[in-house]
Amino acid sequence: MSLFFSPFAPRDRRQGSWNVHHLPQTSAAFVRYFVGNFKGWYVAILLLQIAAVICTILIPWGLGQITRTVSNGLDAEHAFEVLKVPLSLFAALLVFEVLFTRAAAGCHIHVLPLQRRTVTHVLFAYLQKHSHRFISNEFAGALAHRVSEVAMGVNQTLSILLFDLIPLLVTLSLATVLLWTASPLLALFMFGWSVLFIVVCYLLARRSHPLAQEYSAARSTSSGKVVDAVSNLANIRLFARHAFEHSYLGGYLDKEVQAAYRSLGYMEKIRWFQTGCGVVLKLGLLLVALYLWRSHRIDIAAFVMSTSLSLLIISDVGNLSRRFLEFFEATGNISNGVRTLIRPHEVIDRPKAVTLKVKRGDIEFRDVGFSYGSAPGIFERLNIVIPAGQTVGLVGTSGSGKSTLLNLLLRLYDVQSGQVLVDGVDVREVTQHSLHQQIGLIPQEPGLFHRSIRENIHYGRLDATLEEVAEAIHRAGASEFIDSMEHGYESLVGERGVKLSGGQRQRIAIARVLLKNAPILVMDEATSSLDSITERFIQDKLDEIMASKTVLVVAHRLSTVAHLDRILVFDNGRVIEDGSHDQLLRLRGQYYRLWNRQSAEVVESAQV
Ligand SMILES: Nc1ncnc2c1ncn2[C@@H]1O[C@H](COP(=O)(O)OP(=O)(O)O)[C@@H](O)[C@H]1O
Ligand SMILES: [Mg+2]
Repeated sequence: MSLFFSPFAPRDRRQGSWNVHHLPQTSAAFVRYFVGNFKGWYVAILLLQIAAVICTILIPWGLGQITRTVSNGLDAEHAFEVLKVPLSLFAALLVFEVLFTRAAAGCHIHVLPLQRRTVTHVLFAYLQKHSHRFISNEFAGALAHRVSEVAMGVNQTLSILLFDLIPLLVTLSLATVLLWTASPLLALFMFGWSVLFIVVCYLLARRSHPLAQEYSAARSTSSGKVVDAVSNLANIRLFARHAFEHSYLGGYLDKEVQAAYRSLGYMEKIRWFQTGCGVVLKLGLLLVALYLWRSHRIDIAAFVMSTSLSLLIISDVGNLSRRFLEFFEATGNISNGVRTLIRPHEVIDRPKAVTLKVKRGDIEFRDVGFSYGSAPGIFERLNIVIPAGQTVGLVGTSGSGKSTLLNLLLRLYDVQSGQVLVDGVDVREVTQHSLHQQIGLIPQEPGLFHRSIRENIHYGRLDATLEEVAEAIHRAGASEFIDSMEHGYESLVGERGVKLSGGQRQRIAIARVLLKNAPILVMDEATSSLDSITERFIQDKLDEIMASKTVLVVAHRLSTVAHLDRILVFDNGRVIEDGSHDQLLRLRGQYYRLWNRQSAEVVESAQV
């Protein structure tokens, strides 16, 4: 598209990429930053709007000129000849007013969707770089909502500024200047009225803002309650709570009504004020003009101009308070969004971060100290060396730090002391992108996109051919159930994969990691939620994948890891036992006890 190469193209897109770590952290700076990207368009809109306003405001002046000619004893026969010049001027003003207004609107229509696209895109890019901690602390829905609110807010703010507030200021200033040419007294009246009107409107709108917010909060609470009740209709029926729910919802609806009365009532008061001011302006200008005309200080042209100016201005300022209110709302939404989304990124690549290219696959935790936030430390001086190609099981009580260890290897969090090394390189010295490319993770609950099965598996390696995808599916033991689905590879998996069973989701996750074929593989309770037959089946597939890779397997069931090269038993952030299955059994410690207990459970359940 030619747009990308025009002087109107977004600045940063021409440069190729955005700086995704630094966005302005206040709403005003944020809007300015994005205006900068479409500067040409906004300047064009502003100039066109000002030109349109000039035409509009000159129309009463043109009317005055025509009236003067008519009142100077015009003989009807030659009316058009005599009025040729003022009439053509008047017609030109009308035409140009329309042209300029439409042209400004045209530019606006062009830039509006692009602006929304850019803000959404940039905020999304920024969001993607937030740390694991940030993402786990926030609701996904709320974050997505903020992104779209900010994008909308930027557009609204700019629209109100460009199409309401700035043109109004220009209108009032020009009206004052025009009236000054007729009589300073008229101009003073106009000026005084404008200043008072704008200031009071602003103050009233500011006071009504909290009321409007309260009303909107009440609306969203009651509609949230309706959603909750509707999604629990089965419960309402089973507990026979129809009447209860009716009055429960009634309470929230009543609150909404009260909030509406407060907000709308206040708005109505503002409207009384505005219409009152309108009457004052119309009557006042008329009386002042009449007085001046009677004492021969202005002529009939100025008289007509000033009265029609007052009519024009009244129609222009009619909704000023509402515009102010919308302006507050839009900027408020931007501030809220910016405050939530644009917090500094926690885990950032170092400026000289290199690309990690794993050749062997050694992993080392060296003197690692780590805690989540202010909680007491999980690890203190933890030392683990895992040579390349070793398969290691991590077992231990829940909460002993196994998942945390994997999080540190993936650099989802930064260690507070010590180092995590891959092939002898500190994970903080390499780009997160390359680190995550070299490690394949199968978590307990593999998240799937609400896309087709093929797209979900392709995610492992986007440039893989269809044959390679099919091969991965085959190796993950997923071909059978996929083939039996109505749309095969193209079947949609539902939100987060809800249309699939746990085992099916897990097989897709395995196929995805198989396709990725990273030299280091980590699994966090990947098969814990599966029944033991499915687990056995998937385990065989996994053993195939593990060949020639460094592998860490967190497991609750000891049988899952018993055959691995080495087992680490965790307790309270420390490794208390370290060795192969046979060595640990001979040790007769924690692993031995756990193994005996789990074997007994298996025997018991087999007997039932
Ligand atoms: N995101 C987190 N924020 C704060 N504390 C956490 C977080 N994740 C885990 N923890 C705490 O860290 C400890 C170790 O957890 P984890 O590594 O998940 O244990 P495991 O995987 O061995 O069950 C637990 O006490 C847990 O409550
Ligand atoms: Mg865990």
